[in-house]
Amino acid sequence: MADDETFCYRDGELYCEGAAAERIAEQYGTPCYVYSTALLRERFKRIRQAFAQWDTLVCFSVKSCANVSILKLLAQAGSGFDAVSGGELYRALVAGADPEKIVFAGVGKTAGEIEYALQEGILMFNVESRAELEAINEVADRLGVRARVAIRVNPDIDPRTHEKTTTGKGGTKFGIGIDEAEKLAGEAAGWSGVELRGIHIHLGSPIYSTEPYERALAKVVPLIERLRAAGCRIDRLNIGGGFCISYTGEATPPPQEYAAAVESYLEKSACAVIIIEPGRYIAGNAGMLLTRVIYRKETQFGKRFIICDAAMNDLVRPTLYGAFHRLWPARSEEGMPQVVLAEQEGFDGIPTELVDVVGPVCENGDFLARARALPRLEAGDLLAVFDAGAYGFSMSSNYNARPRAAEVLVDGPEHRLIRHRETYGDLVGPERQFM
Ligand SMILES: Cc1ncc(COP(=O)(O)O)c(C=O)c1O
Repeated sequence: MADDETFCYRDGELYCEGAAAERIAEQYGTPCYVYSTALLRERFKRIRQAFAQWDTLVCFSVKSCANVSILKLLAQAGSGFDAVSGGELYRALVAGADPEKIVFAGVGKTAGEIEYALQEGILMFNVESRAELEAINEVADRLGVRARVAIRVNPDIDPRTHEKTTTGKGGTKFGIGIDEAEKLAGEAAGWSGVELRGIHIHLGSPIYSTEPYERALAKVVPLIERLRAAGCRIDRLNIGGGFCISYTGEATPPPQEYAAAVESYLEKSACAVIIIEPGRYIAGNAGMLLTRVIYRKETQFGKRFIICDAAMNDLVRPTLYGAFHRLWPARSEEGMPQVVLAEQEGFDGIPTELVDVVGPVCENGDFLARARALPRLEAGDLLAVFDAGAYGFSMSSNYNARPRAAEVLVDGPEHRLIRHRETYGDLVGPERQFM
């Protein structure tokens, strides 16, 4: 199934695979995240194939979309996982992940999380500081095991993405500078609890060109060569995630382009195993958020608001990152325009009005879209927020005491709940006994 056939309009109705959005919304209520099994599988397969010339382990980035049914589906397809907390590790294990395919990054792993990961036998830690390497060494010594580690290098490369998701630039909290990494590797060679086996980078997300990867690897591969010459057994190179997707319908570089761009560096690194950590590429386009219009509001100040039952607590990306998501009514005779640009004000033949699409949360920053051209929407209309599968539900919260949305997984014409809508009882569950 082609990408644009996964979420598409047939006879004026939006479908995810073979399931009509309206029917899903009626059955499970709104707001509701809807994911496509076919597209999740297809994207996993595509990125794995792009890197197939190497022995590549794809570690899906749990933070992007952490529902255990989705992790299970990917684990069954052969995916490993990139976790950044004990909680993410737990989720991956509950989903049936092979611990030997789990990597663990993050700048603040606690001793408890390190112990948990060691006891579960994960593949390796991506270490982000000297203090953390010492902590891993200590915990491993206490448990009588040897932890496999990769140093997460901060190559000081600007990935030219949002400042808040820039992680490979000097001055950010992530990773260890090349010179420090080389020094630390030399010292740690004598430590009994850790075994340095790899180098890891993760530059940021999303990255719309291959060039930052090339520039980073041009620094990292010589480091690997120097470390090897100094006696370290570096046999794993992890190039992280960040592979972009289209949020507007426009063409973006496919995974083969990233693979081709880094090919010479990966060859030169002579690492037996290459690891990639895609999150957004696999899950981003594979999920949408369905929301119903509660009210229209037109003001004397000349503004037109479409007030929906989904809010910033359900999808924080627009207000947090200024992120752009396509929105379109689930019933539309004309279907949705192929490409929707942020600055676009109208579409050929489709009458539209400029609106702000907002939620019920008490913040001026609570919006899903601002100044967006949309067909006229009325209370009760169903609206789809596209490309919300990554960093959508996983970043949602209970702010304003709003129960979190339901999640639904579609497979062909079938659909099933994979997370029930939270209840008011769920909101106070962890507190009630202490009243
Ligand atoms: C260490 C690490 N790896 C992988 C990813 C996944 O990035 P993306 O979803 O853009 O592929 C992230 C995201 O922040 C990350 O922090």
